[in-house]
Amino acid sequence: MKGRESGMPEEDAWQAFYDAECIVRKLDCVKDPADTIAEFGCGYGTFTLPVAKRTSGLIHAFDIEPDLVALVDRKARDAGLANIRAEVRDFLKEGTGLPPGSTDHAMVYNILHIEDPIALLQEAYRILKPGGSMSIIHWNYDPSTPRGPSMHIRPRPEQCRAWAEAAGFMFVRDQDLSECCRYHYGMLLMRPDPMPDELQ
Ligand SMILES: C[S@@+](CC[C@H](N)C(=O)[O-])C[C@H]1O[C@@H](n2cnc3c(N)ncnc32)[C@H](O)[C@@H]1O
Repeated sequence: MKGRESGMPEEDAWQAFYDAECIVRKLDCVKDPADTIAEFGCGYGTFTLPVAKRTSGLIHAFDIEPDLVALVDRKARDAGLANIRAEVRDFLKEGTGLPPGSTDHAMVYNILHIEDPIALLQEAYRILKPGGSMSIIHWNYDPSTPRGPSMHIRPRPEQCRAWAEAAGFMFVRDQDLSECCRYHYGMLLMRPDPMPDELQ
């Protein structure tokens, strides 16, 4: 099921909202040059390509829209990026299909206004390695932004944090993105390393 209000405007209009390179850098999406990444809803690949340039690891870019996945595939080929695996998938219905504990970082961008955000975040938690991280960005909770979901479903940063913590994440920091975009907030969380007694 496609998440509510998750359609996209024209590509040029969407891309103009972001300095995507700046965002993935500020949010430490790639800490090690071989990190593997999962992206929940890649859309036009706005963030997929910038992150793929920073790692030799695989980027699993999921979207329910075949046209968008084909576009991201084409962009990856044109850019000579062999590490992008764009896949048509309904991650709300069937998850990502990635093995548990297999991923270094999850990107959850402009999607947490969907019907069941905690289920998505639980899937992100499942696939992350202990110590792996997750970045979230979303439209500011401000009705004057030029786009963004309806205010009654648009989450505040505190809400995203609470959902992520309910899914097991540990909050790392809010990230000021004002150098990279005008209308979004960002944050970083992590899947905690197991406590010693959990290992026993
Ligand atoms: C608002 S767009 C954001 C795209 C991208 N994250 C960005 O910020 O540029 C949300 C994307 O999620 C995709 N999507 C919505 N529901 C989905 C689902 N159940 N499974 C996979 N993709 C989904 C939409 O097709 C759309 O491309």
